[in-house]
Amino acid sequence: MDVKTTRISPADIERQREFCEKIHERSAALPAAPLAYVDTYGCQQNEADSERIRGYLREMGYGFTQDENAADVIVINTCAIREHAEDRVFGNIGALVHAKRRHPGQIICLCGCMAQEPRVAEKIRASYRHVDMVFGPHALWKFPELLYRVVTRRGRVFENTDEPGNIAEGIPTVRQDAVKGWVSIMYGCNNFCSYCIVPHVRGRERSRLPEDVLAECREMVEAGYKDITLLGQNVNSYGKDLGLDMDFADLLEAVNAIPGDFLIRFMTSHPKDASQKLFETMARCEKVAPVFHLPFQSGNDRVLKEMNRHYDRSGYLDKVRRLREQIPDVVITSDVIVGFPGETTAEFEDTLSLVEEVRFDALFTFIFSPREGTPAAKMDDPMPMEEKKANFQRLVDAQNAISAEKHAAYIGKTVRCLVDGVCGEEGFALTARTPGNRLVRLERGDESLIGTFQNVAITGSNTWSLWGRLAT
Ligand code: SAH
Ligand code: SF4
Ligand code: F3S
Repeated sequence: MDVKTTRISPADIERQREFCEKIHERSAALPAAPLAYVDTYGCQQNEADSERIRGYLREMGYGFTQDENAADVIVINTCAIREHAEDRVFGNIGALVHAKRRHPGQIICLCGCMAQEPRVAEKIRASYRHVDMVFGPHALWKFPELLYRVVTRRGRVFENTDEPGNIAEGIPTVRQDAVKGWVSIMYGCNNFCSYCIVPHVRGRERSRLPEDVLAECREMVEAGYKDITLLGQNVNSYGKDLGLDMDFADLLEAVNAIPGDFLIRFMTSHPKDASQKLFETMARCEKVAPVFHLPFQSGNDRVLKEMNRHYDRSGYLDKVRRLREQIPDVVITSDVIVGFPGETTAEFEDTLSLVEEVRFDALFTFIFSPREGTPAAKMDDPMPMEEKKANFQRLVDAQNAISAEKHAAYIGKTVRCLVDGVCGEEGFALTARTPGNRLVRLERGDESLIGTFQNVAITGSNTWSLWGRLAT
């Protein structure tokens, strides 16, 4: 067992619920229920954290609003992955000055990955005085206590001390969706890819106990969830810190054994740890969706080494080949970075050729963004932004053509899809997802179908999605 992981005790969480109760008593004295607005940036991990923040807020007696002017508490759950993400957050908190002027009792909280960065906390302390509270991901479990401090007007609260990380069970949760939901199976990351801020703000890799993960999945299935995504920065190393005889493939098998008609997804996988055992387990487990998100980041061996990724191009291609051997029509998606410091256009061509070779179903493409405190931020980066953008565009064009072709191949097929919502676009009634998570717009259909699996005849497609009608 990793000695550095702190497991927050049930008594500590109980104490937090007492703070919820104290705030609830204060809110009960108000003429109307107070309102909270939770604004989330970044990845599914942050979405999952926001669901716990909402869970605590509900226990405190808050209702929810999407209107920042109506909110008594605003929580901004931030992402630090790229500069652009941080700029947006600073822009939005700057603008909140006006909401607060109109509503002087309003409490503004900044949390999430940016809040863990000392540089950001200092900037907020000095220049954004309307922000009342800053707390990093490690302090999320004690949000009620921190909020109570602000509510009782004991000054601004800054809680972002660095630590290897903790695990807290039993935090209440308000889920955003009634059909699809996340279950975090682990937190943090040990990989230290040279460009990435995540290990610096989220701490070391630590796994939840299998019984806690399984109990949460079981509860969700009983509550009617049809699509469960197991979350972690690198799910393939699940359990390594627990000293138990259970790895990620075993966990997947155990979730698959929960009775019920539902799909299991997971993200993200690091190629170095994606094992043959996992591929075989996926192929065998009928509830595990045939989809694999396997970020490759670059197709060039020198760049991969500089990125500290611990695999090379041929190793990556070998994993893809073995995955397809087990699940022939598996949907494969990936992440890639263009313009890593020192990457030449010739090296970028290796990324392009890997994309052509693998033919991903979808690709998430990013231009390198230097993150203070990571090794890559200090590397020489001579390529002008125009050239990076031109390479980026070539990659996007190549992938768009592949995605469009892959989607067109669905036309004429009937696919069992999960109906997951109302479609806001004209001419369509509902949205659904293929097992590979491709979006399907349905021409007709009643809202009562949301949360059910339906056979869908695919009639059309474009680069990003499919459309079709319910097959009778
Ligand atoms: N743990 C996941 C990904 C987390 S971040 C994994 O390892 O796959 C999601 C994606 O953001 C990464 O896969 C990477 O492609 C991109 N990314 C991370 N840091 C970045 C940076 N500094 N600049 C540009 N893109 C970055
Ligand atoms: Fe970042 Fe790499 Fe960890 Fe993913 S595996 S979170 S890219 S350090
Ligand atoms: Fe962003 Fe933090 Fe996720 S940096 S991508 S919200 S882990």
